[in-house]
Amino acid sequence: MENFVFNNTTKIIFGKGVESQVGSELKGYKKILLHYGSGSIKKTGLYDRVVKSLDDAGIAWVELGGVKPNPSLNLVYEGIRLCRANQVELILAVGGGSVIDSAKSIAMGVCYAGDVWDFYDRGVEPQQALPVGVILTIAAAGSESSVSSVITRQEVLLKRAVDNRLILPRFAMLNPELTYTLPPYQTACGVADIMAHILERYFTRVTNVDLTDRLCEATLKTVINFAPRVLEDPCDYEARAEIMWAGALAHNDLLGTGRVGDWGSHMIEHELSGIYDVAHGAGLAVIFPAWMEYVYKEDLNRFVQYAVRVWGIDDFFYEPQRIALEGIVRTRDFFRRMGLPVSLGDLHIGDDRLDEMAEKATQKGPVGNFKKLEKADVLEILKWAT
Ligand code: NZQ
Ligand code: ZN
Repeated sequence: MENFVFNNTTKIIFGKGVESQVGSELKGYKKILLHYGSGSIKKTGLYDRVVKSLDDAGIAWVELGGVKPNPSLNLVYEGIRLCRANQVELILAVGGGSVIDSAKSIAMGVCYAGDVWDFYDRGVEPQQALPVGVILTIAAAGSESSVSSVITRQEVLLKRAVDNRLILPRFAMLNPELTYTLPPYQTACGVADIMAHILERYFTRVTNVDLTDRLCEATLKTVINFAPRVLEDPCDYEARAEIMWAGALAHNDLLGTGRVGDWGSHMIEHELSGIYDVAHGAGLAVIFPAWMEYVYKEDLNRFVQYAVRVWGIDDFFYEPQRIALEGIVRTRDFFRRMGLPVSLGDLHIGDDRLDEMAEKATQKGPVGNFKKLEKADVLEILKWAT
């Protein structure tokens, strides 16, 4: 096990109706920015409940909606201007990973005299950020208690991330009921992302990490068990609750303690969603199994362990290689059964820009840690994913 510091300070407020407490949670702030997406929160009535709670608590607010999946830098700029003009003290993100990431970006940008993109692609470290609070409406990205923000600069089709403690949300309200209205495809994309966050940490070359191995396996098995239930009955509270809590735990970095995660599949996927604007979870359902097939021989035993412990493959009858491959097959089959794409073809993406994606992914050096991937490796994985 590697040395580590674990200090995730996001206050999680979990359960039915918790969003109605948002006004009292924000006591002490004079003015906030209410930030949201393309309208789902208005259709579901969540917007009205949040506004009422803010008004009842006497908190002044300005609003900025319109965040799209794979959130754009241009809306971030607009948010920065709005916050500055209104002396906003905190940003309340009501939505999914895209809204939260946009809120985090605005939070950094308001406190910085330069271009906020400097943090994403020019190696500048943020020194200050406004606080961010979250009301989560989809279990997926884990941004509600992560240190990351992922933003797309459309003009150059670049999707890039910042990791910094300054943008770890102060609090996150997780009411599983708010996820009842998700379209099945979006639910499935969220599940794939949650699983990918665990798998990125699980496939490590660090040895003697048995506790976190088992925490990863337990969280994966929970997601695999409950995901079909939420697709069958979108209003199954208990199943939604399991998935929602798993989504936060998958990415608050508890499961990564003492380990070095891989993250190659995420880096490759960000090029995919940066160029083609596909849902992040859908991109991962395509890339992750292809990555697994490409790298499993680097540490066959770890892939055997995954197949046996997560998918229950009987290790008595088979050769290790066959067990490992069966674990990968089960992973892809699971994504397929969730209604997700499992090849670039399923996403209607041809092979004309594979080279460009491989080039962009490795612009700053090889990606991944389980196996360091050079451009040629990334290109190969993309080809295997077609
Ligand atoms: O915009 P609205 O109208 O709200 O619709 C959204 C959006 O179309 C809809 N939706 C969300 N909650 C809903 C709902 N529709 C009905 N009922 C609800 N309760 O779902 C769609 C997708 O929302 P989005 O926020 O894009 O989903 P997700 O949470 O998967 O976020 C994806 C983004 O997060 C980034 C991804 O790259 C992607 O840009 N990630 C962020 C991470 C982080 N900050 O730590 C880590 C991840 O690996 C990921 O990269
Ligand atoms: Zn992800």
